[in-house]
Amino acid sequence: MADRLEGRVALITGAGRGIGAAIALKLASEGAQLVLNDLDAAPLEETARAVGRLGHDAVTVAGDITRPELPELVVNSALQQFGRLDIIVNNAGYTWDNVIQKMQDEQWQAILDVHLTAPFRILRAASAHIRDATKQEREAGQVVFRKVVNISSISAMLGVAGQANYSSAKAGIIGLTRAMAREWGRYHVNVNCVAFGLIETRLAQASGTQAAKIDVDGKKINIGVQAANLEAQKQSIPLGRAGTPEEAAGAVWKIGTLAAAGYAASPKQVRLRTPDQASRWRLL
Ligand SMILES: NC(=O)c1ccc[n+]([C@@H]2O[C@H](COP(=O)([O-])OP(=O)(O)OC[C@H]3O[C@@H](n4cnc5c(N)ncnc54)[C@H](O)[C@@H]3O)[C@@H](O)[C@H]2O)c1
Repeated sequence: MADRLEGRVALITGAGRGIGAAIALKLASEGAQLVLNDLDAAPLEETARAVGRLGHDAVTVAGDITRPELPELVVNSALQQFGRLDIIVNNAGYTWDNVIQKMQDEQWQAILDVHLTAPFRILRAASAHIRDATKQEREAGQVVFRKVVNISSISAMLGVAGQANYSSAKAGIIGLTRAMAREWGRYHVNVNCVAFGLIETRLAQASGTQAAKIDVDGKKINIGVQAANLEAQKQSIPLGRAGTPEEAAGAVWKIGTLAAAGYAASPKQVRLRTPDQASRWRLL
């Protein structure tokens, strides 16, 4: 176990499974203490137990991050429990696809809420702490870098039929990232965005299966990708397979913990490449 994040506190939404759970384990294995949120309490507690087995603390705040009070509650949990907040990973999300003529307002709004409004509210809730902590550090002659990693998708970069809501929300978070990178540069906060291609999680399962559903407020929503489309997507990946959650977490760890002083406001598009290119990240 490394200790590159010893003494640092990270907040991760959607940490109950998939990419969020893998990010939690990666950051914990580097020494971070965690505040974890997910809609589903049971998998969230499972992630917290796995973090505990690595010898680190994880505070859990179960609940729908689109509820207006949740973002502040999650941020305050970090401050009350650990007294600081260093890394914010806005990861929670799901898909709710339909062609535009069948897409309801509710469907459009729910996806904007989870992928864009909730991250905005989390960053807003953290702003007072970040400003005050930077002021104190400046007075003490210290420079402490903090990190925000927002999760986007190639759906934003390329557009995906049937995902007008998701492509728009994931493009929106790139705009939020760019604005906040400029706004928070003076507080030494590096604000970045990772746009994943296909990653092997519940979200990327063949749709229509029992597993490819999410329960939001009692409503069972079909997630996943049409089987034929899923296969085509895999074929288009140079490595011939989807990424793993651990590979995705590695990208977040890489830009979420760099000690570098500079900040980048461009999304990093993470795609699986042929072995000789496997370690390269394409910057758009
Ligand atoms: N899997 C992919 O191919 C892929 C590709 C690009 C981007 N992404 C993005 O990665 C992120 C993680 O997705 P994943 O693939 O790990 O999916 P996943 O379904 O495995 O995990 C997502 C987690 O987010 C939680 N969540 C969903 N809505 C929530 C809400 N309102 N409040 C709190 N928690 C909520 C879910 O309960 C779940 O545990 C998402 O933002 C997704 O859009 C995934």
